[in-house]
Amino acid sequence: MFATVSDQLLTWYDAHARALPWRVGPGEAQPDDPAWPYRVWLSEVMLQQTTVAAVKPYFKAFTQRWPTVFDLAAASEDDVMAAWAGLGYYSRARNLVKCAKVVAELGAFPATEDELRKLPGLGAYTAAAIAAIAFGEHAIVVDANVERVVARLFALDEPLPAARKAIRERTNSITPENRAGDFAQAMMDLGSQICTTRAPRCLLCPLSGDCAGRKTGEPETLPVKPPKKAKPERRGTAYWIEREGKVWLVTRAGTGMLGGMRALPDDGWSAQADGSGKPPMAGETTDLGAVRHSFTHAHLTLQVVRIEGQGTPAGEGVWWPLDELDGAGLPTLYAKAARLALA
Ligand code: ADE
Repeated sequence: MFATVSDQLLTWYDAHARALPWRVGPGEAQPDDPAWPYRVWLSEVMLQQTTVAAVKPYFKAFTQRWPTVFDLAAASEDDVMAAWAGLGYYSRARNLVKCAKVVAELGAFPATEDELRKLPGLGAYTAAAIAAIAFGEHAIVVDANVERVVARLFALDEPLPAARKAIRERTNSITPENRAGDFAQAMMDLGSQICTTRAPRCLLCPLSGDCAGRKTGEPETLPVKPPKKAKPERRGTAYWIEREGKVWLVTRAGTGMLGGMRALPDDGWSAQADGSGKPPMAGETTDLGAVRHSFTHAHLTLQVVRIEGQGTPAGEGVWWPLDELDGAGLPTLYAKAARLALA
């Protein structure tokens, strides 16, 4: 029965594939142009933990500004970080520049999963996806969509993450020798359009006849998720220091939370759970209110405090013109804080 799963899925994909800017049409070979593996890589990095809708404008902006991996390798990290602002998970942007430099040095993207895996920032999923999509390698591509489709197709009711081993084996068992890239993307499309987390549209599914999960009557209960841990609540303070139509911005240090991104100065909330650090300048303060932001591992309430004074703020920073704040590349948290301060 399972020999036909990939045929059925690929036939469905031939008719229903989403047209996306980093894709060739179903059944088409990738053009023999080094810009294609670059586009596949860039899209896969952007799509980690991020929706297709959110990625599209960023993909367009990046490929217009840096059409090849060589252009990106030559870009300044600050420009890339600023262009990434709003997309989240900023370690991806730091690794992007590192990876582009390595690939530029190599002369081209390596074409095998093993070699791709050695590049900075490429995990198992991304290496497999690029190997399959850009180079047609028979790689086992498992993202959250594929996990859901496979757990349902085979009614795997072991909870995640323990179920991942079985899911991988089953994915391997249905991955075809040919068209592995189309197959991977067909699974992703099926997972995001039909085999959705809630209310799967089984009547439209090309695999419903083979689906053991559907036969249980409750496919939406699969895969079984581990109990959700409550996210810790953190608090911090960001400071708004404005002078002559400009605001004081810093670049966050290190590789931790929002590391390398432009930001308002703050009290070190990301280093100390209670945000008990000191303000960067003495002066009269006004509480402007708070913004909320959720990260993967925590919720943050960030108090925004204006400091009035003529001193020089501590540490390195720049006076950024308020009428050019859109171009500062503030990540969403600080963009929210800036909107509050300017309201
Ligand atoms: N999510 C991750 N990679 C994707 C791709 N190539 N197409 C659609 N969704 C994706």
